[in-house]
Amino acid sequence: MKLHIAVLPGDGIGPEISEQGVAVVKAIATKFGHDVRFTSALVGGAAIDAVGNPFPEETYRICADADAVLFSSVGDLKFDLDPNAKVRPEQGLLAMRKQLGLYANVRPVETFQCLLHQSPLRQDLVEGADFVCIRELTGGMYFGEKQEGTERALDTCVYTRAEVERILHVAYAYAMRRRKRLTVVDKANVLATSRLWRKVAMELAPQYPEVQTDFMYVDNAAMRLVQEPRFFDVLVTENTFGDILTDEASCITGSMGLLPSASIGEGTPVFEPIHGSWPQAKGKNIANPLAQILSAAMLFEHFGLLSEAQLIREAVRQSLDAGIRTPDIQTPDGAHYGTREVGQWIVNWIAQQ
Ligand code: IPM
Ligand code: MG
Repeated sequence: MKLHIAVLPGDGIGPEISEQGVAVVKAIATKFGHDVRFTSALVGGAAIDAVGNPFPEETYRICADADAVLFSSVGDLKFDLDPNAKVRPEQGLLAMRKQLGLYANVRPVETFQCLLHQSPLRQDLVEGADFVCIRELTGGMYFGEKQEGTERALDTCVYTRAEVERILHVAYAYAMRRRKRLTVVDKANVLATSRLWRKVAMELAPQYPEVQTDFMYVDNAAMRLVQEPRFFDVLVTENTFGDILTDEASCITGSMGLLPSASIGEGTPVFEPIHGSWPQAKGKNIANPLAQILSAAMLFEHFGLLSEAQLIREAVRQSLDAGIRTPDIQTPDGAHYGTREVGQWIVNWIAQQ
């Protein structure tokens, strides 16, 4: 297959993990005979520094013309510490999502047997947890009307029926391919937007009679995720709730550095780790590249290249079992491996298959 991938390394640890993600895609392309072409582009703080815009028009063009985007991370301390900054790296990520129409963010949460002991939860609770969070990505408070005064500020949460319908269809499609349980997470006891979500979900549910649809308030869902993570199969929710719950869900697996995601919708799909740019670790060769590498697996899956994705997943499992791990998931007696060493080990393992 011919694939043109836009590579957006961004800030902090982004460039380091991006390099490993690209190396793994290249290794897979060689192994399976795919013709993959890459074009790099600026995003986030790197783009602000270079051209004053966190998502420059040129980057949009490159993304729009590509088949997929391999994105890493944005964010830098320089901006975090300045609440008056006029532009922020994060605006680049939000602009990319909005301009490419990526309304569905798919965040699978899977556990790795050999890392279960790293989970903050009891092993017997997390073992076998396997669910997918579908987060609405271009609506809600993130994109509603804003006012930012010094005495009063406003973020508006808005959803239209059409926005709710399309994300629910994505979630139901996932549920149909999985264990057929969909949990719609909202705050319908308080919020009008949540009641719209619930109404629309109740209307759509009969179209998917094989799927069991549950409704759960977001506060309860936050509790349930740590109390009984195995309860969930597919969880769907609005933008802000999804942002919060997926960080919570990610740590169940032992490290945030392991979770990939896919943002899909109208335009070019984007594959990105769910973690941020960890600026403190920038250039230190200590960041875990696995979320980025697993994002590459999701990229191949998106194009129906399932054996390719499987091989990446197997390589990741093998690296973990062999103890080739970055410090965040290494055992106390394990050797030190950096971002590059883990990536290289995986590339070599793929080449040897
Ligand atoms: C995420 C991140 C982003 C978000 C930030 C970096 C703007 O936390 O992808 O979850 O809030 O969506
Ligand atoms: Mg987040």
